[in-house]
Amino acid sequence: MLNKKVEQELNQQVNAELYSAYFYLSMSAYLESINLPGFAHWMRIQVEEEQFHAMKMFDYINERGGRVVLTTIEQPKTEWKNVIEVAEDIYAHEQLVTSLINNLLDVAIEEKDHATNNFLQWFIAEQVEEEANTGNILNQLKMLEGKGNGLFMMDKELSTRVFVPPTTK
Ligand code: FEO
Repeated sequence: MLNKKVEQELNQQVNAELYSAYFYLSMSAYLESINLPGFAHWMRIQVEEEQFHAMKMFDYINERGGRVVLTTIEQPKTEWKNVIEVAEDIYAHEQLVTSLINNLLDVAIEEKDHATNNFLQWFIAEQVEEEANTGNILNQLKMLEGKGNGLFMMDKELSTRVFVPPTTK
């Protein structure tokens, strides 16, 4: 049986992951509107990743005999100044998610929930990757000052990204 406090925190994280998907989908819409289809496509891939994260938590709560409770998803931002501002927001958001996962792990440790501690290790590693990936894109964009041929090349490169669901559970 899942510890009540841990269950509550996991439910909040399901909401946070679904919000991340919604936030990135909003970015995708904005990027389409400024003619960056490759960046828009990349954000669609990020949406799938976030949905995967949410469902991984959802399944875990059920597996442990807990109860998933879905709550309101906040409206995301809809306008940005330019693609650099979008990338800054993605990077900052991933850092925020890392802190949420770390707090969640702290609760699992305090509650001596070893199974949840073990489950969350996947997310800890995933966040290292997410921060590195989004941080790199932000840095590249800053080097190009978000414009010119370089931006066009980046957009082309990002249009080839595909979502590969992790095989490990
Ligand atoms: Fe679910 Fe991008 O962290």
